[in-house]
Amino acid sequence: MISRTLQANTLYIECIVLFMNQKDLDQFQHLVQLLLKKEQDEPVAYPIPSQDLFDLIDLKLTDEGLSDEELYKRLEILIQKTPKTASKLFFNQLFAGRKSKAVLGDLIAVVLNTSMYTYKVAGPMVGVEKSLIQSVCDLIGFPKNAEGTITSGGSMSNFMAMVMAKDAYDAQIKHNGIQQKLIIYTSKECHYSIEKNAALAGIGRKQVRFIKTNAEGEMDLQDLTFQIKEDERNGFAPFFLNLTAGTTVLGAFDPIDAATEICRKHKLWMHVDGAYCGGIIFSQKYKRFLKGIEKADSFVLNGHKMLGTPMTCSILVTRDKKNLNDSFASEADYLFQSDDDSFNLGKTSFQCGRRNDALKLWTLWKSIGTKGMESLVNHQFDLANYARTYIKSNADYQLFSFENSISVCFNYKGIDAKLLCEQLYRKGKILVSHGSSSGNSFVRLVTINSDNTFDDIQHFFETLEDFVKNNKTLLGLKSEQSKKQLTS
Ligand SMILES: Cc1ncc(COP(=O)(O)O)c(C=O)c1O
Repeated sequence: MISRTLQANTLYIECIVLFMNQKDLDQFQHLVQLLLKKEQDEPVAYPIPSQDLFDLIDLKLTDEGLSDEELYKRLEILIQKTPKTASKLFFNQLFAGRKSKAVLGDLIAVVLNTSMYTYKVAGPMVGVEKSLIQSVCDLIGFPKNAEGTITSGGSMSNFMAMVMAKDAYDAQIKHNGIQQKLIIYTSKECHYSIEKNAALAGIGRKQVRFIKTNAEGEMDLQDLTFQIKEDERNGFAPFFLNLTAGTTVLGAFDPIDAATEICRKHKLWMHVDGAYCGGIIFSQKYKRFLKGIEKADSFVLNGHKMLGTPMTCSILVTRDKKNLNDSFASEADYLFQSDDDSFNLGKTSFQCGRRNDALKLWTLWKSIGTKGMESLVNHQFDLANYARTYIKSNADYQLFSFENSISVCFNYKGIDAKLLCEQLYRKGKILVSHGSSSGNSFVRLVTINSDNTFDDIQHFFETLEDFVKNNKTLLGLKSEQSKKQLTS
């Protein structure tokens, strides 16, 4: 009797689970369609003032749960109110757009819920990741024993590179801790993760030397040499050079080839942070900005920036797999129980449990091929060229960025860039960010959404100009009438 009741209960629960799954799946479709429609109708979600957020949306978690219908309603609200990063008016950060095939890959990764640490658990997904890493190594001309891993982002990839460099400099550090004053070199235009990672790695923020750049934001190698010699004279231990391929604000490329000899002479690990623009490895036209990359010790590129995959996907490769093993391999007999270590990716990763972030980029690359990847990278430069040409031909604009960069930096009518970007956001018009370099502040238009067309870039400028025309007082501009009064 008891067992029959138990059986009936189990059956009942199974039915509910299955039924719920189907219902959630249907709801998912509905929610995605709602999002796509919303993106069209209201490309920039009207922002909720942060101080009002918890009053305006029901976000509090409670003892009692909600009915499905109530929950779905909450999700609808959240979706509608969340900024639309795939819309035609999102230019705020170094990612944008939505590549359908990459989303498909990512959705499958979610449903499979794979963890990438062992072949036993991840099976062929290990092959997906290995193939991706191998293809990147091939594209940059790394030797046969190169290896890599997929990390949670460029900051983490940069961190792992720094750790490998530290262990390669002195294999005892990982046992005894840092005994010497290790010194890191990077340009003053580098991403903030370099300095943060220096602190996290126990090297210290003060041991980071920020090297001067030339007018175009590229590292000045004379200053680099000077700094290294100075540190050597003081008995410090220079060990790591970070070069940036696509600096965060200007999109500039540090001179890799020319830095190689300096690294060889002073025994520095040469890392190339291509989190932003490393995607040019696909482009016959633009990969010249990575000249010398095959001589780097490590290189990172982000799938979720130029290559358009959903967040997050960052590939870190190193020319000798020994370094990845030396710094990250650990024994754990409760985890690594079968198969060859080269198929147990947890042996060379930072995390233990790790999302399958390879599948989305693999799916995209597999679907459009290396040539398709090249087109989407080149298109971003075409969009940037279009934007620069527009700016140059219009006297109301001042251009601050250079050729061959997908960060188009400018000011319009002398309006304070911070104020302009803030108001465009508050009024739900455009999401675009501002930056500064060499004492100038400017709007930074990033043409990283390869789904955009020239018309979309034109639309960006028209929307901005229209907004300025209608909000002169807000932006501190004198109206025509008050100008006349002043001059009469
Ligand atoms: C040059 C550079 N490196 C690293 C990063 C950090 O990448 P992530 O945001 O994936 O941590 C960025 C982010 O913008 C970047 O521009």
